[in-house]
Amino acid sequence: MSVIVQAFFHQDSNTWSYLVSDPATKHALVIDPVLDYDPKSGRTGTSSIGKIADAIAEGGLRLQWILETHAHADHLSAAPWLQARCGGRVGIGEGIRLVQAAFKPIFNLEADFATDGSQFDHLFADGEAFALGTIEARVIAVPGHTSDSVAYLVGDALFVGDSIFMPDGGTARCDFPGGDAAMLYRSIQRLLQLPDATRLFVCHDYGPGGRAVAHETTIGEQRRANIHVRDGVDEASFVAMREARDAGLAVPVLMLPAVQVNIRAGRLPPPDENGVRYLKIPLDAL
Ligand SMILES: [Fe+2]
Repeated sequence: MSVIVQAFFHQDSNTWSYLVSDPATKHALVIDPVLDYDPKSGRTGTSSIGKIADAIAEGGLRLQWILETHAHADHLSAAPWLQARCGGRVGIGEGIRLVQAAFKPIFNLEADFATDGSQFDHLFADGEAFALGTIEARVIAVPGHTSDSVAYLVGDALFVGDSIFMPDGGTARCDFPGGDAAMLYRSIQRLLQLPDATRLFVCHDYGPGGRAVAHETTIGEQRRANIHVRDGVDEASFVAMREARDAGLAVPVLMLPAVQVNIRAGRLPPPDENGVRYLKIPLDAL
């Protein structure tokens, strides 16, 4: 039996979250859960992640894992809320340590903020295998957009995080701390070695050219039609294209709020003595 994939779109951040389940055992995992956050008021909300929790309950599913493809720069993770509600272990790629080490000084985080990934329940190594009920799964490290980026292959469904987008969306930017366009090219080539029929699920879609947002394609379609990395595009031309594009991109609106929360596995910063939690915005530091 094939793995079941339910997709949930978060409009404000153009993020796709996925609820993935094994029909035989009802074991499930969630990839990239999003916490609502309004930067104008500083209010967080759970109406989006609540829909995934409802789907878990309605399906009688047992949540095993909450998986991050990387420490996102465009939304806050809802992993702690989902874990409190539905259980499961929170996992991310072991490269999160590098991201924590890069951003701890930028945010001047508390001295005892650990940069060993211990805020997460599990750190995945490249190639690490795990099971979702009767379905085999494995982790493929895809650094380039960030140092901690991973893809998750669950049965025949590949969740690529921010590496490759829909064929007409190209690829993810590589200009954040730890990003590297040549590394992204090599990571994507590893993904493109998978069988052409592999179902590929993207992390974001921005509906280029005004088309409706989409989330699913295949490895074969990417090799044929991806505007940045289709078959025949070599590393040097990809890197030149990627670096030129990145030079013109603005910093994401939620990058500073998101990263300082997501490197804590989605936990909000510790409260001040008045009981209120604050986000930090470093001035003239980036
Ligand atoms: Fe990202």
